[in-house]
Amino acid sequence: MINDLWYKNAIIYCLEVGTFMDSDGDGIGDFKGLMRRLDYLQGLGVTAIWLMPFQPSPRRDDGYDVADYYGVDPRYGTLGDFVEFTRGCKQRGLRVLIDLVVNHTSIQHPWFQEARKDPDSKYRDWYIWSKKKPAHASEGVVFPGVQKSTWTYDEIARQWYFHRFYEFQPDLNTAHPEVKAEILKIMGFWIQLGVAGFRMDAVPFVIAEKGPHAPADLAENYELLRELRQFLSWREGESIILGEANVLPNTDMKYFGATGECMQMMFNFHVNQNLFYALATSDSRPLIKALKSTKPRPATAQWGQFLRNHDELDLGRLTDEQRQAVFAAFAPDENMRLYGRGIRRRLAPMLQGDRRRIELAYSLMMTLPGTPVIRYGDEIGMGDDLRLSERECARTPMQWSMDPQGGFTSGDRPASRVISGGSYGYEHVSVEEQRRDPNSLLNWIERIVRMRKEVPEIGWGDFTVLRTSSAAVLSLRYDWRNNAVVVVHNLEGIPREARFDPAPESGGGDQYLVNLLSDEHSRAEKSGMHCILLEPYGYRWYRLGSMNYVQNRTDA
Ligand code: NOJ
Repeated sequence: MINDLWYKNAIIYCLEVGTFMDSDGDGIGDFKGLMRRLDYLQGLGVTAIWLMPFQPSPRRDDGYDVADYYGVDPRYGTLGDFVEFTRGCKQRGLRVLIDLVVNHTSIQHPWFQEARKDPDSKYRDWYIWSKKKPAHASEGVVFPGVQKSTWTYDEIARQWYFHRFYEFQPDLNTAHPEVKAEILKIMGFWIQLGVAGFRMDAVPFVIAEKGPHAPADLAENYELLRELRQFLSWREGESIILGEANVLPNTDMKYFGATGECMQMMFNFHVNQNLFYALATSDSRPLIKALKSTKPRPATAQWGQFLRNHDELDLGRLTDEQRQAVFAAFAPDENMRLYGRGIRRRLAPMLQGDRRRIELAYSLMMTLPGTPVIRYGDEIGMGDDLRLSERECARTPMQWSMDPQGGFTSGDRPASRVISGGSYGYEHVSVEEQRRDPNSLLNWIERIVRMRKEVPEIGWGDFTVLRTSSAAVLSLRYDWRNNAVVVVHNLEGIPREARFDPAPESGGGDQYLVNLLSDEHSRAEKSGMHCILLEPYGYRWYRLGSMNYVQNRTDA
């Protein structure tokens, strides 16, 4: 089984071609540059790369406004370069996921251009139109404060068109049979070129009925997910869909499918928000609740666990009070917040660059039920540039070295500014500098990634929450194939004694906890309880074993 379902024990690394590595000095990252960094990624230990949109696009929403689904933006290279890239990945055992952005196109897409000009064009029905301004046009905007409406009047078509996101992203009519067929064709195209699956953008909106009704009245068509998945399985059995669906736990099973026949993976937004609440308040209880409520899933399905991504940290599903607590801890200034619901900063500055807290956050992410997804640059603790607008602040170029422009480009005009000066500037934070230092964050990440891959219990197994002596200590146990692992985290900035019984059912005994990260093992008291002193923000990963087990490992 472990040789199947690769995504169950993967480490995914997300990057944007345009900000990763520039090979020709034009200031824009490209596939050739990325290829030069594949050995870096392999060395880091990640097993899959998720590429954000790289297709031709006016890039008014960082490529999430696609103008041609079958090409590569010439700024990044050619289709030939893309195939060289997937080949290079394959050679190194790295899988490639790409974004599938089919809820909407760019307004510049030839389909929309034709649809708006010619009422008889077949493309007219590929979008959603209304002769009159719909009554609910100001409802359901995704970017409050920036986006005013979900319907815009088009002077050329002389009709209103629907757009869930910005007005330059007209929604595709995903219920239309020709649009559905085109989506399959797009997937088939990239699968043929070597990708292992898709990070599917805005899934709840793709499957929602689209029209002039109130957003709450729009039904979801989960059947579409089944169709997409089925098609993928026909074309390439191992390929997956990783869905971006920030939904309530009671619909999770619909997205995965009752027997796992829809999407294989989804990002766990619910846990993500509660994880940040736990980090902000040292209170693990809401996180435990979120873990339990997202526990039910088909055996083949998997959660994607993440800390930060390219968007704002969306806290929209916390209570007002909880959200305020996270804001107060991690985004005290208004300028750090976005859309009234989120935080637009990178991880390291949110945690005040405190190495202990960064390690705690990563250790948690790596040991929550699912597959970890790392955002480029977070492995070296990159910062953000809050002078940039909206989400741009956390999308600055990768900092490779202390060379000018952080070694990202040999040119002197990077299309997006490299962070320079201050404690997060490339002069202080770079791969080159951290590579040489055995104690750097980068080398720590490399070690924890390696260990995570050697603990398949987390990706494959079932978890139970162990009772501990304090809400500031979170302890999880994973069981899989007669192996068990226990992870313990102290969410607070003071030392904590963690007392817990890793095997409450067994009634005590000669239980050993074998420390997977250091030599400091733990032997149970007669009662079966373990008593571990955790330093501020401390964490432990253990495998359950007997003394014998420890001995054998030492001998080996
Ligand atoms: C979700 C993406 O993550 C975000 O960056 C984008 O703006 C919207 N979907 C629209 O495609």
